[in-house]
Formats: sequence, C-alpha cells, structure tokens
Amino acid sequence: MGTGHLTAILLILCAFPVSLANNASNVMATEAPTVESSVTFRSRRSTFTSALLDSSSEAFKSRASTITTALEPFFKDNFTSYLSMRVTSFRNGSVINDLKVRFSGTSVPHHTKISNVLVNASSKVTDFDIETSSITVDNIVSSGVNHKISLFTSFCLALLSWLLSSKQ
Ligand SMILES: *[C@@H]1O[C@H](CO)[C@@H](O)[C@H](O)[C@H]1NC(C)=O
Ligand SMILES: *[C@@H]1O[C@H](CO)[C@@H](O)[C@H](O)[C@H]1NC(C)=O
Ligand SMILES: *[C@@H]1O[C@H](CO)[C@@H](O)[C@H](O)[C@H]1NC(C)=O
Ligand SMILES: *[C@@H]1O[C@H](CO)[C@@H](O)[C@H](O)[C@H]1NC(C)=O
Repeated sequence: MGTGHLTAILLILCAFPVSLANNASNVMATEAPTVESSVTFRSRRSTFTSALLDSSSEAFKSRASTITTALEPFFKDNFTSYLSMRVTSFRNGSVINDLKVRFSGTSVPHHTKISNVLVNASSKVTDFDIETSSITVDNIVSSGVNHKISLFTSFCLALLSWLLSSKQ
C-alpha cells in the first residue's frame, strides 16, 4: 500500500475528530479544561459508623455537606481557579475524609498551597476536626473526552504533515 493510500485513509479517520474539535458549537470539544486534586485528612474526634460507608445514607450526606460547606470558603478565597469540591468516601480510623477538589485550567495549585489552606482552616472549623499531620494532597490530571479528542487531533495532524512531507 502506497503513501497515497495511507494518507487517504488517515484523512478519513482523522477528519471526524478534527471537525469535532474545530466546531466551536460543539460542547464536548470547547468545554474548558478542569483538573482535580485528591485531598485526604483525618478527623480524630469523629466517630466512624458503618452508615458512613454508604454514600446514599443520611449520615454520609450530612457529614459530606458539613465538610464541604465549612471548607469551601477557604478554597474560594484562596484559589481563583477553584470550581467545586465533593466528598468521595469516609473511612474508619477515627474518620478519614476523602475529597476531590476541582479547579479550572490545566494544572491544580501546588499541593503545599492546598494543604496550607487546610491547615489554616483546621483552626477555624468547628463542626469537625482536621488533624493537620494527616493532610495529604495528590494532583490528578483530568482526562475528559475533550482532552482525548485534542490529543488525537494533534496526533493526526502530526502524522498527516509527516506523511505529506515525506512524499516530496
Ligand atoms: C457544528 O456542530 C453542530 C452541533 O453539534 C452542528 O449542528 C453543526 O452542523 C456543526 N458545524 C460544522 C461546520 O461542522
Ligand atoms: C472501626 O475500626 C475499629 C478499630 O479497628 C473497630 O473496632 C470498629 O468496629 C470499626 N467500626 C466500623 C463501623 O467498622
Ligand atoms: C484563605 O481563606 C480563608 C477564609 O476566607 C482565610 O481566613 C485565610 O486567611 C486565607 N489564606 C490562607 C493561606 O489560608
Ligand atoms: C491563615 O490565614 C491568616 C489570615 O489571612 C494568615 O494571617 C495566616 O498566615 C494563615 N496561616 C496559614 C498557616 O496559612
């Protein structure tokens, strides 16, 4: 199979995602990028109950809402890129709280900045406690559909330009 055939096949394969990505009215392709950070801390003074394992239980919803309501102002005031936060799980010991914090853009604030804000919050929140030595922050790069399309698009464009230039 010649380079001409390959180019034609690639053109067809790539045309769809390229047109998706270039169409400004396509929500999937124009959605602003967001990233998530995984935040975990322990509440020494809270008591773990098995209801906290079930995210549809009243106990889970109530504790999750208490935590996000208390922490949200600290994130809003300290990070302009802050978008939202949610509790993903509670674990036994006393209670280990797992959260995901979403930011706009392609990178999250530095993990020490995020933990500093939590350290600061720990002296101010009253409905639960934050054991400062237990705070961990991990950065997760979001892999949304739009990200995959643009990666695929750039891959296609690179391959096409390479094929076209190799024909000369
Ligand atoms: C762009 O996308 C919209 C909705 O998906 C579609 O109706 C429209 O025909 C597309 N335009 C082009 C130029 O592909
Ligand atoms: C939590 O862990 C403690 C210590 O291992 C255990 O005694 C307790 O039963 C656990 N609680 C629940 C609800 O699983
Ligand atoms: C973050 O925001 C909180 C709440 O508005 C504020 O008290 C605190 O000083 C800010 N700065 C840091 C570094 O936490
Ligand atoms: C917490 O916030 C206060 C008020 O803005 C600030 O003075 C202090 O340095 C902060 N502490 C930490 C540990 O970030």
